[in-house]
Amino acid sequence: MGEPLLLALDQGTTSTRAILFGADGLALGEAGRPLQQHYPQDGWVEHDAEEIFQAAVAVLKAAVETAGRELSAIAAIGITNQRETVVLWDRATGRPVHKAIVWQDRRTEPVCARLRAAGREARVTELTGLLLDPYFSGTKLAWLLDHVPGARAAAEAGELLAGTIDTWLIWKLTGGRVHATDATNASRTLLYDLRKGGWSAEMAAMLDVPLGILPEVRDCAGDFGETDAAILGRAVPIRGVAGDQQAALMGQGCVRPGEMKATYGTGCFMLINTGETAPISQARLLTTVAAQVGGRTTYALEGAIFIAGAAIQWLSEGLRIPGGPQAAEALAAEANDDLGVVLVPAFTGLGAPWWDAGARGALFGLTRDAGLPEIARAAFDACALQTRDLIEAMRADAPKAFHGEVELRIDGGMAKSPWFSQRLADLTGVSVCRATYQETTALGAALFAGVGAGIYRDPAEAAAARPKTEAYGPRMDVDPRERAYARWLDAVARVRTT
Ligand code: G3P
Repeated sequence: MGEPLLLALDQGTTSTRAILFGADGLALGEAGRPLQQHYPQDGWVEHDAEEIFQAAVAVLKAAVETAGRELSAIAAIGITNQRETVVLWDRATGRPVHKAIVWQDRRTEPVCARLRAAGREARVTELTGLLLDPYFSGTKLAWLLDHVPGARAAAEAGELLAGTIDTWLIWKLTGGRVHATDATNASRTLLYDLRKGGWSAEMAAMLDVPLGILPEVRDCAGDFGETDAAILGRAVPIRGVAGDQQAALMGQGCVRPGEMKATYGTGCFMLINTGETAPISQARLLTTVAAQVGGRTTYALEGAIFIAGAAIQWLSEGLRIPGGPQAAEALAAEANDDLGVVLVPAFTGLGAPWWDAGARGALFGLTRDAGLPEIARAAFDACALQTRDLIEAMRADAPKAFHGEVELRIDGGMAKSPWFSQRLADLTGVSVCRATYQETTALGAALFAGVGAGIYRDPAEAAAARPKTEAYGPRMDVDPRERAYARWLDAVARVRTT
């Protein structure tokens, strides 16, 4: 038998992908499928869970084939997934009773508003590390139970099972033998007691979700059973599971307190490892499980920016700057720095640390000399300045992590750009380390599976397989950096509604 291989399944919001890795973290083959989005009403977003499962099976097989390898060479599968999205299905038939409700879906805002108005948010944050926002799974699950005819009664009779996408895929891939999730995914549901480490009866009662439909919570490098031989053609152990941002944290090797990463996709998710302490954020960040391995839980503070890469997409598609993101970047690079144009891309409200759903985007500081290059520059800068907002919030919540050398590890679409990486370092004043391989999410899932399969002793040893990085130190002087940030904060204050 050759070197043991690790097969990662990365089920994201817009696609389902599988990547086969060697134990050294190098990718050997990959396959992907886009995922259809369903928008039944304004603010509602759904996925077809059955389509997700079929795609998962197809890409798992295709990634192994593309690499010219055999399933028998795979030591373990690691699963990572879009978090918070929920599926409710019939235990006997294996059929979902409704489409999956996606993390972006806002339909449960009235429930959240009611609970906020009743003064429940502080207790919710204390128990779960989260906020009362429709983003999280709990209220979505209650919606399904209340709106699918007969669902609540069937759930109470033990006929239905619930879970996030990892749970759904584990259950389907094991032929219905394992109903489990991992602690990172559990920590996004609003139903998980962050510090005690189990489902919270108090939260389940508050959100009206029966505990019996929830999966068992296991380690990120735990035993999630074997795939049913009929599904992939062979039984393969599933030994790693983590939500996608936590998997990226692992893939970037952020296993020690103070290590942090930002992933730039449509939005941007930034996490800082806080070790075994789970600070309650005073700056409206989320506290979440970073990993649970060998029964030891580590935590992270997380900030989400809703619009990052989407602002660059808007330059191409909304403003019709021809030539795609590369052309937009070239235009941004030639902008006149002195004009001070600021774009607040609050197209769908503002995420952390502002959490202002009513805010909308605005462009400030236009003069006769300002043109498309300055607007393009402002869009790239907005991604960097929003990152600075998160860094400042994290600094306030976890000041110890910011003593000494601080480095921000980045990945995702925008991290492919050396120019943006430098701009990010300049505008945040923090050293930026750009991963030279972007698929850190899939890699993180593979590494957790590697720990679970005994290939690595622990996450610290697995972290050695993280991709190489290129470092960018801040080159901008402090004065212009602080002026740019003050202009940004002023612009944000003008679009805020809360
Ligand atoms: O919390 C949502 C996040 O996990 C989704 O990530 O990469 O699928 O958009 P992504």
